[in-house]
Amino acid sequence: MSPIRNLITNKKTNINPIWIMRQAGRYLPEFREIRKKNTDFIKLCLNPELSKEITLQPLKRFELDAAIIFSDILMLPYGLNQKVEFKKNYGPILGDLNLNKILDLEEFDFVKRINPVYEAIKMVSQNDITKNKSTIGFVGAPWTLLVYMINKKSPKLELIDGFFKDEGYIKKILTILEKFLKIHIKNQINSGAEVIQIFDSWAGLLENKDLPYYIFEPTLNLVNFIRSLETPVICFPRGIKDYKKYCEIVNPDVIGIDYEIDPISIRKEIKIPVQGGMDPKVLLTDIENLKKETKKYLDIFKDHPYIFNLGHGVLPETDPNMMDYLVKMVKDY
Ligand code: CP3
Repeated sequence: MSPIRNLITNKKTNINPIWIMRQAGRYLPEFREIRKKNTDFIKLCLNPELSKEITLQPLKRFELDAAIIFSDILMLPYGLNQKVEFKKNYGPILGDLNLNKILDLEEFDFVKRINPVYEAIKMVSQNDITKNKSTIGFVGAPWTLLVYMINKKSPKLELIDGFFKDEGYIKKILTILEKFLKIHIKNQINSGAEVIQIFDSWAGLLENKDLPYYIFEPTLNLVNFIRSLETPVICFPRGIKDYKKYCEIVNPDVIGIDYEIDPISIRKEIKIPVQGGMDPKVLLTDIENLKKETKKYLDIFKDHPYIFNLGHGVLPETDPNMMDYLVKMVKDY
């Protein structure tokens, strides 16, 4: 059994598996090399051979316990025929949402549009490099996808005016998302994804009163669906603040924590396995500080099932040598 699966199933505290969000990405020169020749990010995600190669790049360098498939949460709106582009130094830009067109969309046509993602997962999960390691599939949480689909760009600190004005419209999008997220998850699992992570990157934008409708209910629904497929699920509701309540209601197999939450309070309040937490900026400092911070997280979760990861994705400015050092330190702990 792979270390991550073993930790989740048997609540192991004596192993510290490690993988890193955005481990395949711009901090690696070999990724930048491929990216330079492939200026269209969506096309790159739809190239199974290159997607496989990029996914495996960090595993060739570091002793990581998981491969996370090189794709994007915005492949889902892309699959729904919403235009998605990535502009350099700006982030994603989405086109207008044509709800009538989406309401007519058949499962077959959606799957056909993003089928290369599933082909890449097959190749990664069957590759020798991922033997005894987990292949992680992922989706954006309904709330975070709703944000991108309506806001049409990263919200950074706030949503566009009138975001919530049409409740009926929002309800229709949430229903569509539920249907196609389940299809997307099921296909990833059937292609070899052994764990699913749900990224709720914009969970922190909501007020407490809105959490049940936009986050708790739709995410719990997906968690139950993934569980019915006998696959573990990791939830990462970045910025949620009340992780305890989130875990009580959504009850994933593993909770991913962000870098703003105090890990000691998490350790005290949360019973389920924990993943992540350390600030990605620590990797931009020096080895002494990296040692200190890494040890801090490992010490706090010493007697708790804990998967080492960061509290958000690795930053493009990161020196790959720092990553190497981090992975070795976690392995030698
Ligand atoms: O973790 C991995 O290594 C797997 C691949 C992965 C990517 N995006 C590749 C990517 C994963 C898991 C994601 C998830 C994702 N995508 C999230 C959730 C996690 C988070 O960061 O909060 C979100 C919000 C997105 C949407 C998205 N994709 C944004 C906002 C951006 C632009 C910002 C940026 O970092 O450039 C992307 C582009 C993107 N997705 C890149 C990568 C490697 C950078 C593309 C490039 O080379 O320019």
